[in-house]
Amino acid sequence: MILVTGGAGFIGSNFIHGWLADRTAGVINFDKLTYAGNRGNLRSVEADPRYAFVQGDIGDFELTSRVLAAHKPSAVVNFAAESHVDRSIHGPEDFIQTNMVGTFRLLEAVRAYWGSLAGEERSRFRFLHVSTDEVYGSLGPQEAEFHEKSPYAPNSPYAASKAGSDHLVRAYHRTYGLPALTTNCSNNYGPYQFPEKLIPLVILNALAGKPLPIYGDGLNIRDWLYVGDHCAAVRQILERGRIGETYNIGGNSERTNIDVARAICRILDELRPHPRGQAYQSLITHVSDRPGHDRRYAIDASKVETELGWKPVETFESGLRKTVQWYLQNPEWIASVSSGDYRNWLDKNYGQRESR
Ligand code: NAD
Ligand code: DAU
Repeated sequence: MILVTGGAGFIGSNFIHGWLADRTAGVINFDKLTYAGNRGNLRSVEADPRYAFVQGDIGDFELTSRVLAAHKPSAVVNFAAESHVDRSIHGPEDFIQTNMVGTFRLLEAVRAYWGSLAGEERSRFRFLHVSTDEVYGSLGPQEAEFHEKSPYAPNSPYAASKAGSDHLVRAYHRTYGLPALTTNCSNNYGPYQFPEKLIPLVILNALAGKPLPIYGDGLNIRDWLYVGDHCAAVRQILERGRIGETYNIGGNSERTNIDVARAICRILDELRPHPRGQAYQSLITHVSDRPGHDRRYAIDASKVETELGWKPVETFESGLRKTVQWYLQNPEWIASVSSGDYRNWLDKNYGQRESR
């Protein structure tokens, strides 16, 4: 049994699907169900006896302690976070509360739980903290990719709050010996991503005939990784990574934002041509830039590749096509997310907002 926090979000739900498909151990999904948490993402595993859901906040020390004591997980994988840069600019408070204070309280609960273990249970326990490449700041066009020893230089409240959480995890390993690992990954895309992020936003807006907003000149660069490849890396690092280490994960797929939007438009032109024959690219609209907008991210993933033999399976082209196809094939998911109806999922299915 492992405990996954934030498992109702985009990457966490993909991780749980992948875990239950590939591994025999069960999963407790511990999630606060913020606007980004959607139990519908896990509909197909709700009946699996190896899966259980608990609604809760990682900042709730009492509840996390109780859940750890009751389920005795062999690992905790911490995906729970406020994750959207634009929201952190408009309202940083939630980011500090969840990403920093919440991670601190979770670490405290995990430290006490780990301290109560003995023998093999104690030696095999792991805490894996899922973080981001944004902690390293912004690269110039010719600068070398971020590696594990790159200095931290976060530029948004989101990135600063993740950087703070990374430092806490490091300190809990160095000071208390907590068997922790940290991963810093580049931009993910794929099924179940909330349409506030660039790729699902462009897909959904294009299908609705709405403008496709591109910040500034559209030449900011991100290093894109298909979410299934990120989840495979996290599984391998959890099982075989060296305690106390950090691992960078990336797709070796640097693209400008405008190129990403154009690539989505080309796939849609082919798979779902506009009813009036209009090219989707005509919907691309340049809008004001994001304050403090990082220019370029790029990841050197050679450590996880050489130490653990991980490599992404998808290229950007194959992953993007799969992703567009997934959104085309899941109009009910889009409708429930667009209408906000996904927030009533628990009430509809269980008539309450407690764990089952
Ligand atoms: P997301 O916003 O889609 O999901 C976050 C999940 O965490 C939601 O289910 C939400 O309900 C839950 N949550 C939020 N606050 C919580 C709290 N206090 N207690 C318990 N649960 C809480 O995020 P995502 O894109 O899936 O990202 C997951 C993790 O991966 C985050 O830590 C993020 O920083 C990191 N990350 C994301 C990307 C990316 O491209 N999306 C890339 C690298 C790293
Ligand atoms: O690099 C990893 C990070 O990637 C994660 O840590 C974050 O959780 C995740 O949200 C993502 O952050 P970004 O800010 O890079 O992702 P987003 O999809 O918001 O934006 C991607 C790029 O597209 C960025 O340069 C801003 C731009 N953009 C975004 C939106 C939403 C636009 O041009 N228009 C938009 O409408």
